[in-house]
Amino acid sequence: MTSMRKAVAAAAGMTLLFGALTACSSERAGEESGGGETGTDTPLIGIAMPTRSLERWNNDGAHLEELLGGAGYETTLQYADNKVDQQITQLQNMINQGADVLVIASIDGTALGPVLDAAAKEEIPVIAYDRLINDSEHVDYYATFDNEKVGTLQGEFIAEQLGLAGGAGPFNLEPFAGSPDDNNARFFFKGAWDVLSPYVEKGQLVVPSGKAPATVDDWTTIGIQGWESAKAQSEMENRLNSFYTDKKVDVVLSPNDSLALGIEQALEGGGYTPGDAWPLVTGQDADEANVKNMLAGKQAMTVWKDTRTLGDQVATMVQQIIDGEEVEVNDTTTYDNGVKVVPSYLLDPQVVTPDNVQSSLVDSGFYTAEKLGL
Ligand code: BGC
Repeated sequence: MTSMRKAVAAAAGMTLLFGALTACSSERAGEESGGGETGTDTPLIGIAMPTRSLERWNNDGAHLEELLGGAGYETTLQYADNKVDQQITQLQNMINQGADVLVIASIDGTALGPVLDAAAKEEIPVIAYDRLINDSEHVDYYATFDNEKVGTLQGEFIAEQLGLAGGAGPFNLEPFAGSPDDNNARFFFKGAWDVLSPYVEKGQLVVPSGKAPATVDDWTTIGIQGWESAKAQSEMENRLNSFYTDKKVDVVLSPNDSLALGIEQALEGGGYTPGDAWPLVTGQDADEANVKNMLAGKQAMTVWKDTRTLGDQVATMVQQIIDGEEVEVNDTTTYDNGVKVVPSYLLDPQVVTPDNVQSSLVDSGFYTAEKLGL
């Protein structure tokens, strides 16, 4: 606990207890959500999530809140509508409230330097959640799924399904990448492009729109700002209208499910119908709408990151920090944030196709069969 919070807790333990409790509760009454007790020695964990507009972040936040609340911590969970300034204000408020640990899924991984300086002044440890925070020394740990592997799994799936190693092709490919301000997006693209670009060079994959980055470092040229479905949809519509009047798309590299959803809508609008001529579309997250689309033949795969395991790992990290124990990590080389290599815990993502929706997503309890209409 920070010294300031300790002082507050000590005061609360004396005759001021009742008043302190009342003050704390009303102070926190305006928050989006909070659990646990207030005004006691209970550690406060600030959880900052990027947006409610994507299913996964709602699940992530709810799960973390439940785990940390269950472990006896007080939590404050805030969503920032994908607005960087809003996230910074929320973090500053958490610091002012005397948070003991901050768990942050950033919107723009390069924009949090000053607010993390403020956290460091109060000696508040920071865990980067899912997305690395760049250009700051005040990032203590990072917990995520192996982001490059997500892309590798997408690229390998495409190569395997199309028989590229056996020389098949040419196939028409349209590649997409994630939000340029999200540090993960480059890793996703790199993983996939390292597998696919040799086939582009050999001519087995052709990109009629010309939107094939010359190198991995040019990935932002095809990035979709804010990971927005609507933006991916209009980009796909433009490509279809401009470059596919006399040909068909065979495969779309989509880095995640929110983009895939927009792309699938554009394909439907462009006259494609599920069946053999529907392009192979990739994804990530196993969002409910996309799993339903997989079952309806509109998406070939998704890379599932069981966010419950990420939450479990982060809750363990929080516990280890609060207890003053060594924090468990399994990667100390990959995630250089520009100032330091952030000690990380990487989890394993896995491929889900229509064939294993039941065995992976339903049997594990991630979704009920009813929810997916099974
Ligand atoms: C996450 C993905 C998610 C994307 C859009 C990425 O940082 O790792 O799981 O699909 O953001 O929210």
